[in-house]
Amino acid sequence: MHDIRNDSDIKKLVHAFYDRVQKDERLGYIFNDYADVDWDMHLPNMVDFWSKLLFQTSRYKGRPFRQHLPLPIEKDDFSQWLHLFEKTVDAHYHGEKAQYAKEMAGKIAASFSVRLEMEGKFENN
Ligand code: HEM
Repeated sequence: MHDIRNDSDIKKLVHAFYDRVQKDERLGYIFNDYADVDWDMHLPNMVDFWSKLLFQTSRYKGRPFRQHLPLPIEKDDFSQWLHLFEKTVDAHYHGEKAQYAKEMAGKIAASFSVRLEMEGKFENN
C-alpha cells in the first residue's frame, strides 16, 4: 500500500468515500434526498478541495462552511462522516499524506461542528 501521491490518487479516494457516504442511510439521505447533490459537479470539486489541502494546488476556490449551514446535520453525523473518511483512507493509502488527510478531515469536521453549534443548529440534541 502506498501514500496519496497525486490527483489521480485523490480522485480514487474521493470517489470511494462518496460511494460509502451514499450507501450510508443517514448521510446518504442528506446528500441525495435533502441536498439532491449533483455528483458530476460535487466529485470533481472535492478532488480540487483535497488537492489544495494535500498538494497546495489552487483550483478549489470555494468557501465550504456556508454550504453546510442549511443542511439538517446533527452533531453525531460528523463522527459518522469522519469514521467513513478514515476507513476509506485506510483501505487505500498509507503514509504521511494519508495521515495528514485524516487529521485535516478531523479538524475541519470539528470546526464545522462548533460553528454549526454557535448558529444554534443542535438545539434538539
Ligand atoms: C455530517 C457531515 C457532512 C455532511 C452531511 C456534508 C454534506 C455536504 C453537502 C450536501 C454539500 C453540498 C454539495 C453540493 O450540493 O454541491 C457539501 C459540500 C462540501 N463539503 Fe460537506 N458535508 C459534511 C462534512 C464535511 C467535512 C468534514 C468537510 C471537509 C473536510 C466537507 C467539505 C465540503 C466541501 C469542500 C464542499 C463543497 C463546497 C463548495 O465549494 O461548494 N464536508 N457537503
